Amino acid sequence: MTKTHLPAKFHDAVVKWQQTFLPDYDFLIENWDKYFPRDRQFELCAFRELGICNEVECGDAEGEPKRTKAAALHPEQAGHLLGAIRAQASTEFGSIQQHQLTLARAQNEEEQFWILRMMAEELRHGYQMLHLLLDDDWSSVTDASSEDLVEETLSMRTGSHILGAFNVDFDSFVDNAVFCALIDRVGKYQLNMQRVSAYKPMAESMPQMLREEAFHLAAGVVPLRRWMEQAARELPYVSTSDIQKTINKWFPRGLEMFGDERGGGTNVRFGLKPMKNLEAQDLYIEEVGKLVRDLNMRYIRARIPGLDLAQAEQVLNRILADRGTDQGIAWEDLVHLPDRAFFRRRGVPAFELAGWQGESFEDLPSYLEHLRRHLPDAYRASRDFRHYVEQAQKLTGGEVTLREAVSAMPGLRRVGGVCPCSKSVRWVAETPQSGAAAGDSGSAA
Ligand SMILES: [Fe+2]
Ligand SMILES: [Fe+2]
Repeated sequence: MTKTHLPAKFHDAVVKWQQTFLPDYDFLIENWDKYFPRDRQFELCAFRELGICNEVECGDAEGEPKRTKAAALHPEQAGHLLGAIRAQASTEFGSIQQHQLTLARAQNEEEQFWILRMMAEELRHGYQMLHLLLDDDWSSVTDASSEDLVEETLSMRTGSHILGAFNVDFDSFVDNAVFCALIDRVGKYQLNMQRVSAYKPMAESMPQMLREEAFHLAAGVVPLRRWMEQAARELPYVSTSDIQKTINKWFPRGLEMFGDERGGGTNVRFGLKPMKNLEAQDLYIEEVGKLVRDLNMRYIRARIPGLDLAQAEQVLNRILADRGTDQGIAWEDLVHLPDRAFFRRRGVPAFELAGWQGESFEDLPSYLEHLRRHLPDAYRASRDFRHYVEQAQKLTGGEVTLREAVSAMPGLRRVGGVCPCSKSVRWVAETPQSGAAAGDSGSAA
């Protein structure tokens, strides 16, 4: 693995950003050994893996040498790639801003410290993406200078990020954990797919990011397990209903990060990713299903301490089979995977009136009542939720088309004159009302 840094002025710009948005960074470094005595001390730098595959692994150019320069890519291919790098950079910096909102509210110091480490690693991921932008010449696909590209990334705020999930505010530490368990898991899929990228510097950037991503998933899953077990012992902290509602808040946004279910073919042809959107989304849903099952198993075993693994499986299967009650544990006491069409605003099921368990609704008011019951209270007070409701109402009233409702979210600040590419993957949202109307005001998604 090689280690490099950005040119000094850009490195300093990231450090300045960190001082503003990740003020606990020094505390992390000073206390690193207390929590992670066996792990290498964190460093803000870019890593490149050595010895990765030299040949394009999928698409039209399969078998040809991987490209080491953007100029060697087909312009359309380079455009897609640039869009993906910028979107990735935006998510890395964006998630730090979200986590910071509720970081201080953790009940447990270790859980908090894990989140803090994860945030520092997201900073490094953003740094890694900036390194990809600055280490090559992208002038064939953008008029933006290096300064513009860095400036644009570092100036985004929650509400102006490229992907919807990074524009949703956190309301409690439950969001920190569920976000890591669900949204970082999407990140893991994206990184894994980009590991085959026909653009070699991208492929070389992925292995270390993936190692770090495994820790991010744990930073989410470990507290969730603990909360499920505490809830089973009737401790009054985080309830299974709190966890369920928070899953309902984030899971639809996670699904949308894969892009429209009908797209992704272009990336495969270009050799940038090995899977289309739906294929990757299916695998993700299966994996989250396993996580949910694991949480329920822990709940059941904490609630009935004498059960062995096989017995607990039987109890769980019986409860799930008839949505009933077994040994005093009701279906409602457990957590469940929301339906893939639930609360969507993009992709194939966008604005369908699909309930969290796949129920269908006759009219919008009864659907909104359903959302009221199944989303967290604090989230329903957010601009993001309000925006969804308003678009759904306009759509029902015939004031906007489905296409307009879909592309109205998230309301983006204009992104410095750069082609937003990657339409098939929907990394980048269209902004029909760009300019003033989509500015900083209440258009955050
Ligand atoms: Fe990351
Ligand atoms: Fe992550």
